[in-house]
Amino acid sequence: MPGLLEGKLGLIAGLSNKYGVAWGIAQACLREGARLAFTHQSRYADQAAELLAGAPGAVLLPLDEASDAGQVARVYERLGAEFDGLDFLVHSIAYAPPATFANRFADTSLEDFHVAMDSSAYSLLALTRGAEPLFRKRGGGSVVAMTYYGGEKVVLGYKVMGVAKATLDSIGRYLAAELGPDNIRVNLLSLGPLRTMSARGIPGFMGMKKVSAQTAPLRRDIDAEDAGNATVFLCSDLGRNVTGEILHVDSGYNVLGFWESALGEAK
Ligand SMILES: NC(=O)c1ccc[n+]([C@@H]2O[C@H](COP(=O)([O-])OP(=O)(O)OC[C@H]3O[C@@H](n4cnc5c(N)ncnc54)[C@H](O)[C@@H]3O)[C@@H](O)[C@H]2O)c1
Repeated sequence: MPGLLEGKLGLIAGLSNKYGVAWGIAQACLREGARLAFTHQSRYADQAAELLAGAPGAVLLPLDEASDAGQVARVYERLGAEFDGLDFLVHSIAYAPPATFANRFADTSLEDFHVAMDSSAYSLLALTRGAEPLFRKRGGGSVVAMTYYGGEKVVLGYKVMGVAKATLDSIGRYLAAELGPDNIRVNLLSLGPLRTMSARGIPGFMGMKKVSAQTAPLRRDIDAEDAGNATVFLCSDLGRNVTGEILHVDSGYNVLGFWESALGEAK
């Protein structure tokens, strides 16, 4: 049986190492027959090359600042020379300076606020805009970006990153509305906690992960493959009429308000 992404061309932005969400998504997309290109920051060049040693035809594109129009233009110029268009784009990028996690949220500096917003939210707009001409060559496209519940509700320790995720969610909806007539879909996955490089910088992350696994309706953690499988759905023809959506891949954690038995189990 052909894979769900057979013949499709995808760009995954934000490849880091084998623990990253981007790599989990890549494995699911490769399994389903997609041909992939990746962006990575320079510091991950060696690890990215190592990961892709077994992926035939994969293209690696350096991108250190995904909100920078010049760098994004160079990525799509190089991609256009390799791929005859693009069917999907995955945004798996986030960053906030360490001080924003260490300090009170109320003490976030304007400079750090801009860095978090540019890297984690505006980058979705910049990368989607850059992809438009390549999507048009294929009659449309699908964009999937990674978000977190801390953009919907207050999550201890997440601070300015929560504000960036709220902005990212909103950018997703505006892009979905504007690009829908060109058959370009834009959706987000709200993922449960995963132990990655970025997650390590969030104070209290292991506690969040423990409580989430113990109290979520399904009483278990997610892994990066779950993000991959949901991405496959949204980028395949199965998801053709889904856009502007936030799909929670979190074992159901987000539906809870207060649940007494869960509180008991979390002790
Ligand atoms: N790990 C989790 O628990 C979790 C939960 C929900 C959502 N997410 C989201 O998943 C996505 C991937 O994160 P991850 O957990 O795999 O961590 P990660 O550190 O492995 O990946 C983050 C990636 O963003 C890239 N990046 C950061 N700033 C950049 C910039 N300015 N320009 C270009 N690239 C930049 C890094 O190089 C890295 O490849 C992020 O959007 C993150 O918020 C993660």
